[in-house]
Amino acid sequence: MDVIHSVAALRLRLQSEPNNVFVPTMGNLHAAHIQLINIAKPRAACTVVSIFVNRLQFGPQEDFERYPRTLEADCAKLRDAGVDVVFAPDEREIYPEPQTYVLEPSDLQHILDGAVRPGHFRGVATVVLKLFNMVSPHSAIFGKKDYQQCLVLTNMVRQLALPIEIILAEIVRAEDGLALSSRNAYLSPAERREAPRLFQLLCRTREKIAAGVRDYQPIELDVMAALAHHGWKPDYVAVRRQSDLQVPQAGDLKLVVLGAARLGRARLIDNVEVNI
Ligand code: PAJ
Repeated sequence: MDVIHSVAALRLRLQSEPNNVFVPTMGNLHAAHIQLINIAKPRAACTVVSIFVNRLQFGPQEDFERYPRTLEADCAKLRDAGVDVVFAPDEREIYPEPQTYVLEPSDLQHILDGAVRPGHFRGVATVVLKLFNMVSPHSAIFGKKDYQQCLVLTNMVRQLALPIEIILAEIVRAEDGLALSSRNAYLSPAERREAPRLFQLLCRTREKIAAGVRDYQPIELDVMAALAHHGWKPDYVAVRRQSDLQVPQAGDLKLVVLGAARLGRARLIDNVEVNI
């Protein structure tokens, strides 16, 4: 496994690897990242993983500075998983000058997580486009835990005609249902015990929809109230269409229930798809 820090060395290494699949990450790797790698590996001769904590997608009050950086442990996991190339650039490599050219997902960046995190999806789209240009993969894998991110990037690839296949992976959860996340490390032991409630409430909402409930707003408000009652600070709970994350119209059958809430120092997001 080659660990590469510069764009020039990456391009040189990948010159001889036209058939490569790409898994972008911010490091602090856990079992969900490894699942993405396991999906990637059989698809190409060469599996490339990037590790880069992207300042551009963090708001000024967010956790950019304290986001866990664990390159050595990450590389050990990636070696065990059979990764071929790790691209771990520093900021000067990705942003050698102020990034004045950015990519605006004009519709999706203003709703749900985009509304709570202004500029977040601009930062995600911009860095992923840059990474795609550096790696030139034929496919790239993303996890559905970040559902809106998946949509932003799928739309980006389609609208910009990038020759890259986007593959989406299911959410990996702990035994009690909590979606794995680097940010779970911010939870105290008591908060960690409380944390599965978000998933449980999203599942309960899915059951109500499956049982025929179509008036979504009261359920969304109920779930937010239940979270607040248990010490969470909910940002949103929303039933939306899978295709564009807009409010469902009568006859929409492919829905997703999304939730985001802060618990102590951690901001957790999760979702469950509902196919009526
Ligand atoms: P990061 O949070 O490190 O996540 C890397 C990839 O792992 C993303 O595609 C994310 O959706 C996926 N992932 C994380 N937890 C998951 C889980 N429990 N189940 C399934 N997939 C999971 O997402 C980012 O980094 C960044 O925004 C990035 C795309 C790298 C751009 O900076």
